[in-house]
Amino acid sequence: MCGIFGFIGKRSAAPLLVDGLRRLEYRGYDSSGIVVKNGNLQVHKKIGKVSELSKILPNHIEGNVGIAHTRWATHGGVTDENAHPHLSQNGDIALVHNGIIDNARGLRKRLTERGFHLESETDSEALVHMISIGIDSGQSPLESVRQTLNRVTGTWGLCVLFKEHDLIVCARNGSPLIIGKGEGESFVSSDPHALTQHTQSFYLLEDGDMAVVTRDGIDISRLEGGASSTGLTILEDEWGEADMAGFPHYMLKEIHEQPEALRRCITGRLDMANGSAKLGGLRLDPLRLRTVPHVRLIGCGTALNATKIGQLAIESLARIPAVAHVASEFRYNDPVINPNAIHFAVSQSGETADTLSAVKEIQLKGGDVHGIVNVVGSTIARTCGQGVYIHSGPEQAVASTKAFTNMVASLLLFAIRIGRTRNFSREKGQSIIKDFQRIPDLMEKYLQNPGPIDEAVELVKDAKSVLFLGRGLSAPVASEGALKLMEIAYIPCLAYPAGEMKHGPIALLEEGSPVVVILPNDKHREKTIASMHECRARGAKIILIHEEGDVEATEEADISIPVPSCSYLLTPLLTVVPTQLIAYRTALALGCDVDRPRNLAKSVTVE
Ligand code: G6P
Repeated sequence: MCGIFGFIGKRSAAPLLVDGLRRLEYRGYDSSGIVVKNGNLQVHKKIGKVSELSKILPNHIEGNVGIAHTRWATHGGVTDENAHPHLSQNGDIALVHNGIIDNARGLRKRLTERGFHLESETDSEALVHMISIGIDSGQSPLESVRQTLNRVTGTWGLCVLFKEHDLIVCARNGSPLIIGKGEGESFVSSDPHALTQHTQSFYLLEDGDMAVVTRDGIDISRLEGGASSTGLTILEDEWGEADMAGFPHYMLKEIHEQPEALRRCITGRLDMANGSAKLGGLRLDPLRLRTVPHVRLIGCGTALNATKIGQLAIESLARIPAVAHVASEFRYNDPVINPNAIHFAVSQSGETADTLSAVKEIQLKGGDVHGIVNVVGSTIARTCGQGVYIHSGPEQAVASTKAFTNMVASLLLFAIRIGRTRNFSREKGQSIIKDFQRIPDLMEKYLQNPGPIDEAVELVKDAKSVLFLGRGLSAPVASEGALKLMEIAYIPCLAYPAGEMKHGPIALLEEGSPVVVILPNDKHREKTIASMHECRARGAKIILIHEEGDVEATEEADISIPVPSCSYLLTPLLTVVPTQLIAYRTALALGCDVDRPRNLAKSVTVE
């Protein structure tokens, strides 16, 4: 999704801007651009990768103030003109913008009537012309941006550069923006990841904040006027540099990092003595856990699939109703909120606009929300103010892997905690925890010998569509496997609870249709095997993900991929891994860009 990077200091700005853009690349984008102040404002922008932009940049660009952008198209196609930065007509002001201006149509129309010629089809360009009107009427840079934003509705994280002033004006509303403070230099970005190699001192702007950023100072005020309470935060860079560590792609690296990431997530949280789990960030005392009427979980994409596993685990262990919700639907369906309920917002980035809107809707109606988030200090984490960090470390590939397993693990920890308070004995808790402690080692064991993944790739890579089936906890695993393959190999994939297959998707099956079946040794096993028979009878080829030693089931399969055995509750943490590898190797076989699949963004900051 769109990314912003800005710099003001004494060093040459252009190389820092390009490096900043490279660090934003993982988020997904379709064009990029920079502007550097050097007497005039020099803009360079180009569709395609940052490497394409680099090719058109002059060898040396003078100037130590600049802003840069990666664009993920929303208003207007993928063209050089629509890429940011956008310039005012006289070329004296440049702007980069993340978010969506809702009343852009009207604003563009009024500007055109006033004689402005708009170069792009974007909503963002209107803003730079409106700012220029303010400057021409004698307003200061800050005031011109403030007056402009007071006339627009929508969301923004934006930076504005002025030819006549040595500063950057920034503003945030619904789209993240962070200012980094260095020695005699300042940085701005929409993503802390692009800043952590420069500084650990940040101002995490809140919605409605504006800032004037200079080399030596950062002055933060409110859009409505007056001072802001946003203060300096020191972010521990627990993530360090995310390099490839010898892997050809981030996705493969992150798949292999799962055992270690999982250890980080569960270490110190498994409470063997009490047969329970400790989650320090949850403000939930035993009385609340005992009396809570229900649990609701909200997420998008991979996080949504994790919430579906959380839902089943919580119901099963705590015996209270739990429901997983699609975040983008939640807010607009005017949900009834019970303030006594527990709500979880699950998000890797902590910036997903749909999830954030759902959080705000719950809070507006008197409910409190706990975040289950990867990125420390992200907007959802801060808005919730309580919750669990999943500690996956930086996830760079657009297709989420290690964040999924740690979201699931965090939700399982909560299910154990609430289940222990309400429903089951210390001994039962201890037995689950004993199994949980083994999972990172079992993941490692599987990854050392992942089974016939390439044979599975041969079956799926040229298929018209692929069906994924599972029951119980394995149904969301099937959904996650299907999502992964669709995201990065562009193969239409359907995921169905195995029993529902006969009510529709069975019509798709023909000779050779690949069907991926997730089959742990759980109470659903026999029924899932029956669904597998139904598929085979129609000519389908079965790729079976099953527990080691289940010889009988493998007789039904064309390709069988064994994973280590563990207790039912924990099976998603192992059965999902082969689906990740199938997606990865299929995408490779088809020549797809594994880490940066087309049209997708790592963190979607528009609704
Ligand atoms: C985007 C990404 C998905 C991700 C989803 C939710 O759609 O492409 O991979 O699962 O957003 O992201 P979040 O950061 O909230 O987990």
